[in-house]
Amino acid sequence: MSGAYSQLLEATISHLEDLKQKGVHYIDVSPESVNALIEPVLRKSDSADGEIRIPPQSVIHSSREDGPSIYDSQRLSSADKVSAMDQLRDEILSSNKSPELLASGANLVFGVGSVDADLMFVGEAPGEDEDREGEPFVGKAGQLLMKIIQATGLDRKKVYIANVLKYRPDTPSKSFGNRKPRKDEIETWFPFLMRQIEIIQPKVIVGLGATALEGLLGHMPTGITRLRGNWQSYRSVPVMPTFHPSYLLRNQSWAVKRQVWEDMMQVMERLNIPISEKQRGFFLRK
Ligand code: URA
Repeated sequence: MSGAYSQLLEATISHLEDLKQKGVHYIDVSPESVNALIEPVLRKSDSADGEIRIPPQSVIHSSREDGPSIYDSQRLSSADKVSAMDQLRDEILSSNKSPELLASGANLVFGVGSVDADLMFVGEAPGEDEDREGEPFVGKAGQLLMKIIQATGLDRKKVYIANVLKYRPDTPSKSFGNRKPRKDEIETWFPFLMRQIEIIQPKVIVGLGATALEGLLGHMPTGITRLRGNWQSYRSVPVMPTFHPSYLLRNQSWAVKRQVWEDMMQVMERLNIPISEKQRGFFLRK
């Protein structure tokens, strides 16, 4: 290995260690950067015997799906899951002083439901109601989400509900309303959602709206209108993209309600939840 190359490698590793200490577990790496790191090793003249070798360390994950399967991590008992969640909550609370983590100075909205849930719903960020109550999806969008969950035969206590952001985004220029999270906020907060997913190890995640999907997939492959209903994956966990309940509140058409219901029926099938004839007919025009 040439001196310049090993210096570059050392600097890169130390930078990555630094980020990891700060809670960053995934980074987006361009193909050019990856090539810049691999190229000197591939040059025949650099190796003593002229053979081309690619060291195992040269595999750099550039998207979330490349990370290890969620199911490879240790399966925890319910009690251990609860204490892991408590620890995570404390970690977030003690990082409150950090301006990158806390833009608004509001209440922590951690997540709610069963740590043993097979089904996890991921939303975008708490709004005003959630900030006040300290619980996700308690406002109008939340009430609609509850109706959707109940229509499957499940209830709020049997699933787990969390957001990508754990605090309501600040709205400095407005006196009311909620703001869509910025990309840097999604990236700052995603590691905490990732830890919740690792603890729960759900069988299916429903991604509610574009921000949730952007968080889970690391990028949006296409708009939510085309993505919805098409299975995606987050580190081996099947992810069903669907519209955010707030969108449903704004767009009351039967066609859109039916689309969300069809997404939910795919989730039910995946979880082996029986679907009655009556359920199959929901939101179909007679
Ligand atoms: N919208 C979200 O995405 N999450 C909530 O908790 C409430 C509204």
